[in-house]
Amino acid sequence: MAEKITTIISEEEIDRKIRELGKQISEDFKGQEVTLICILKGAATFACDLAKRIECPVTMEYMRCSSYGNETESSGVVKITLDLDEPIRNKNILVVEDIIDTGRSMAYLMEILKQRGPAQLKLCALLDKPDRRVADVDIDYTGFVIPDKFIVGYGLDYAQKYRNLPFIGVVDTGV
Ligand code: IMP
Ligand code: MG
Repeated sequence: MAEKITTIISEEEIDRKIRELGKQISEDFKGQEVTLICILKGAATFACDLAKRIECPVTMEYMRCSSYGNETESSGVVKITLDLDEPIRNKNILVVEDIIDTGRSMAYLMEILKQRGPAQLKLCALLDKPDRRVADVDIDYTGFVIPDKFIVGYGLDYAQKYRNLPFIGVVDTGV
């Protein structure tokens, strides 16, 4: 049976927020090149739209991590399943993630990236679910702070579905 999805952030609100984030990032990195590291799969939609609103020279790289756990909770044991093609030493890095939930995946990944010696290492997350945090993560740019609900759309999935929704919604799995 199809799950019921209730919109919590509209397409227009997402667009407005991304323009704001892009403006802030463009000011902060003014006159510098910035490498966006998009964390697949969830951040793909967000990273592409964000890149369009950044006025500095941008290059885009992709990483994919899997965190062992069940469908709705990560375990904190993170494995890099797709790594960067290029070294990041002395580069200005902006990691782009869909959502920071427990924080376990990003705490781990940011530490690994830091060890590779970038000039700057910043994090931009579209969504922040602070109620669930168990690992400390410094988020430099946050789109929306949301309550502890399981959400889908705009890149985020439930069992690989709903990434294509243009808005962000809460999924009612009926359990
Ligand atoms: P963390 O390690 O618990 O912060 O896990 C973050 C990852 O879990 C995100 O990158 C998402 O892939 C996934 N995730 C966490 N919360 C949600 C949600 O509400 N909807 C969809 N995916 C989520
Ligand atoms: Mg993710």
